[in-house]
Amino acid sequence: MTPPAIGPEAAAATGTEGPLRIGVIGLGVIAPFFLRAIEEDRHLRLTAGCDLDPVKLAGLPSGVARFTDHRDLLASGLVDAVVVTLPNDLHASVVTDALDSGAHVCCEKPLTVHSADARALAAVAERTGRTLFTAFHRRYNSNVDRLAAELPDRSTIERVVGRYQERIEEHTGNDRWYLDAERCGGGCVIDNGPNALDALRHVLGELTLKDAVIGDVRGGVEFCAELWLTTDDGIPVTVELDWALPTGEVKDITLHLKDGTTVTADMLAGYDGFKSSLDHEYRGIMADFRAAVAAGPSRRDDGPVVVDLVDRAYRVARAKEARLRMPSKTPAEAALVKLLFHRRGDRGMTLSPWFSRCVRAGEVHELVSTTERPSVPGQRVDAVGFLGFAEFGAATVVERGDEVRLGGKLVGVVAGFDECHFPNHYNILIETERLVTAETADLRVGDPVVFREPAS
Ligand SMILES: NC(=O)c1ccc[n+]([C@@H]2O[C@H](COP(=O)([O-])OP(=O)(O)OC[C@H]3O[C@@H](n4cnc5c(N)ncnc54)[C@H](O)[C@@H]3O)[C@@H](O)[C@H]2O)c1
Repeated sequence: MTPPAIGPEAAAATGTEGPLRIGVIGLGVIAPFFLRAIEEDRHLRLTAGCDLDPVKLAGLPSGVARFTDHRDLLASGLVDAVVVTLPNDLHASVVTDALDSGAHVCCEKPLTVHSADARALAAVAERTGRTLFTAFHRRYNSNVDRLAAELPDRSTIERVVGRYQERIEEHTGNDRWYLDAERCGGGCVIDNGPNALDALRHVLGELTLKDAVIGDVRGGVEFCAELWLTTDDGIPVTVELDWALPTGEVKDITLHLKDGTTVTADMLAGYDGFKSSLDHEYRGIMADFRAAVAAGPSRRDDGPVVVDLVDRAYRVARAKEARLRMPSKTPAEAALVKLLFHRRGDRGMTLSPWFSRCVRAGEVHELVSTTERPSVPGQRVDAVGFLGFAEFGAATVVERGDEVRLGGKLVGVVAGFDECHFPNHYNILIETERLVTAETADLRVGDPVVFREPAS
């Protein structure tokens, strides 16, 4: 399809004719930052706005055409380009309509909820010859930009941590789509992840996801997450996302250097008012969008790359058993019914392949400490200290990694199980600093033993 001729677009590109005519679709919480940036740029002119809510439309400056259906705005002939600031699940269809109508598009992050949709949008932009531009505002943040410009020698960087943490309710409007997994696409990973990841990519270059964990999941929406990535030259990067701070926000990037010092770009430093850093960042977005339109369709949009990272993070994290800040069981309690006082260096136990074992109420199992670090199923375990036999008061699941407390004191973590005496009992192997026996731990018959999953 040949794109319709749009006069002012060339104008904005060269600066020789009239301004680029912009329509804003979605007039919620973030739209005012776009509206101000458009107003302050003489190469841009706001000509139309669209929202389902007439109250929001009424707030537009006079002379700006108002629509409740984005298709009418696109067909009006009033815009060369649109800014899309709709709930996440609407981005894919509305951006497709806009590109197909011949408009250039600046779309809020995340470009889409699913990777396939982001790739499809890139294809539509290519087919129509229009500019597709995802608005990542943190890459224009002055403190992030300075860090990118003054990055220390990369060989001196040991690791990098990016934090994007807030209380989500302080950043949203009345519409609760953020808390609807279908409409938002998830929680803090898809909402805050794109800005954090894009800022880190701006500073460090391409990133590859290695691992991810989500947590504090409420109604399918995660309120915290950690992502582990690496740069092309092997610098480890951690992203810490949180939607559940008591109040306030933490948004920064810290380089941990090999000499023990740190360099931090605090995105909010110097911008004391709530969201006050956004003004210069959204001016940056609109100036860059204008430049992208001028440069023509050859420019590659980073939106799909970031959607891919988010998509992968969800696939990895959702496949995991564990969740952050979500205890999966109550502590399992047992009591010592027989003590053992000896140790051996040639016991020849075998680490079983099972990560966890179910235990019924009233069952008795043997507790064995070891200073070896068995991790591979079938691994032989020789250095052991015997603690005794414990009766479980209630049915539970004992798992590798559970912390073990004897008489209230943390002695180690469950390393796994040896089944040489099964079905009589399991040997529960407890990884300890030193070999521990009932004698060295000063245990008495009846002392409590507690298995607790580690706090995350
Ligand atoms: N709020 C922030 O701090 C922030 C920051 C960066 C990016 N963003 C992104 O901006 C986008 C919008 O977020 P928001 O916080 O402004 O949301 P919002 O809910 O405040 O605003 C969305 C607006 O879209 C309107 N709308 C909904 N469906 C519509 C439709 N079919 N046609 C026309 N209008 C419709 C709603 O009436 C509302 O005014 C999201 O993608 C979000 O991730 C938000």
